[in-house]
Amino acid sequence: MIWRGIITKLWATIIAIVAIALVFLTILLLQFFENSNLHQTELQMHKIGTKSVQLIENGGDRRTALNSISDISGVYSAGSALVTNRDYWFSAPDKGFPRLNRHFFQSDPVLNKALVSGKFVEKQGAFSNGGTTPAKMIIIGLPVHTRLGENGALYIFQTLNIAQNAIDQSKKLIYISTGIAIILTTFFAFFLSTRIGAPLRRMRTAVLQVARGNFDINVPVVTRDEVGDLAVAFNKMRDDLKANMTALNQEKEQLAGILDNMADGVVLLDENGRIKAKNPPATAFVRSWAFEHDDARSPSILTEMLLSASGERKQQIQNVTTQGRFWVVILTPLYSRQKIRGAVAVLRDMTEEQHIDQMKKGFVANVSHELRTPVSMIQGYSEAIIDGIAETDQEKTDMAKIILDESKRLGRLVNELLDLAKLEAGHFQLNKKDVPLIDFFSHTVNKFSNLAEKTGIRLELETDAGENDCFVFDPDRVEQVMTNLIDNAIRHTSEEGWVHISVHLESGELSVKVRDSGTGIAEEDLPFVFERFYKADKARTRGKSGTGLGLAIAKHIIDAHGGEISVNSRKEHGTTFQFSLPDNGD
Ligand SMILES: Nc1ncnc2c1ncn2[C@@H]1O[C@H](COP(=O)(O)OP(=O)(O)OP(=O)(O)O)[C@@H](O)[C@H]1O
Ligand SMILES: [Mg+2]
Repeated sequence: MIWRGIITKLWATIIAIVAIALVFLTILLLQFFENSNLHQTELQMHKIGTKSVQLIENGGDRRTALNSISDISGVYSAGSALVTNRDYWFSAPDKGFPRLNRHFFQSDPVLNKALVSGKFVEKQGAFSNGGTTPAKMIIIGLPVHTRLGENGALYIFQTLNIAQNAIDQSKKLIYISTGIAIILTTFFAFFLSTRIGAPLRRMRTAVLQVARGNFDINVPVVTRDEVGDLAVAFNKMRDDLKANMTALNQEKEQLAGILDNMADGVVLLDENGRIKAKNPPATAFVRSWAFEHDDARSPSILTEMLLSASGERKQQIQNVTTQGRFWVVILTPLYSRQKIRGAVAVLRDMTEEQHIDQMKKGFVANVSHELRTPVSMIQGYSEAIIDGIAETDQEKTDMAKIILDESKRLGRLVNELLDLAKLEAGHFQLNKKDVPLIDFFSHTVNKFSNLAEKTGIRLELETDAGENDCFVFDPDRVEQVMTNLIDNAIRHTSEEGWVHISVHLESGELSVKVRDSGTGIAEEDLPFVFERFYKADKARTRGKSGTGLGLAIAKHIIDAHGGEISVNSRKEHGTTFQFSLPDNGD
């Protein structure tokens, strides 16, 4: 990890640059030293040689001349040798020089030329004489011709050790400066590491924390440079991110809340028709679909609709019935660019609406039937009377009675419709009174005694109310309720049957039950009997059939009193309607 760090890279780069520069410098310096040293040495030796040759050729005292030569060359750490046809002389400043003899100079092909051809010669190399270790030397030879006819050559030689020493010294200096450069670079790297590396590392940790969702982490702003600016920018980014995330989460929660509390079902599908999310009403739909089709996967209707939506590239609407409930499914495809990435299906439970719709249709049919039947009968019998079809007075009376009955029936239908319209619109006032219970209920029940007698039905009233017990309610409206309940009971009870009315006053509450031993109501019809126009007995047998409004009106009246009305029944086992009225004494 550390090797990949920016500081390490910087450090390595600087070291490499310093090293390369130093290597070049070393090579160039050494070459320069070597060349300049050699040149210097050659020049010196030339001067010494020329001076020495002059000393010998001037013809002074030979011994003094040789001593002077030895001294001059000694000053420059050089040695000298004189080779003539008469004698041989050698002088060296210290014992480090090999002892070169006449033979050495005469046998060397280059050096020999100074002797033989009288030329100036120069030679570099490792020289030794006999068994001595070779020494790196530079030797120059100058021809010598004295006035006394003596010929030969003077050789000046110098070891190259001095030059070598200087080079070694320079190398040492270069090594030291390399070491210093490395140490300085390392210090520089450490400095950078604390100034740049540490804040960057802190920022990296902070970024990772933020990525994990921890928005409380703060990057300290230590320096006022680009790194400091970066820390400030990071902290701002973190604040913005936190605000955005919070807003996003709140929006998500709001959306989830809305979805969960929606009456419509919402299903989110992926591109393969798999359910990715759904709300509670949608769960109910999926469950009932799975139950009906014995298939635990996504409802096939949704997959099919998604397929059509992909093909047609437009919204799909379908009606679906499952487990007796009626749903309208609206599927809207979701696009990601041109590709469909899924769909949102809205499932609306339209069971009630469909039921109401059907009821409305039924109502029109019912009302037209209800109206048509009495109207055509009135018309028919009136024509019969006018045309003189009825011959006897008795026949005429009978026909007129039918006309009267039918017009009453028509009147009742119109009144009930008007009543219901008023009740539903809320435009009616309860006319509450303190009503003596026994009087009221006996009167209401007695109205039906003739009818009961005619149809052979036993009609009974049972009550635990006292002679003077009173209760506050609207007597006309409650009588309307009782009339309908008793009328229904008698109409749905065959001969030899009974209708039992019980009235109880219990803890300030009036409870009334109308029981009969009649046909009963089928279980599937029970929840709907209080709806307007609902008729459980669909066969409209004359005389028995009503308008289907009576119970709807009754429920409105009882509700307006703040009471409750309910029904219990079993097919062929009779029916019980009961209602209760609270004592609100006003
Ligand atoms: N005691 C009962 N026994 C059997 N069925 C009943 C009884 N009471 C009501 N019903 C059923 O409930 C339906 C609704 O009754 P409701 O009183 O609202 O209408 P209706 O009697 O048909 O007409 P209306 O009362 O307006 O003349 C009836 O058509 C009948 O099928
Ligand atoms: Mg009725």
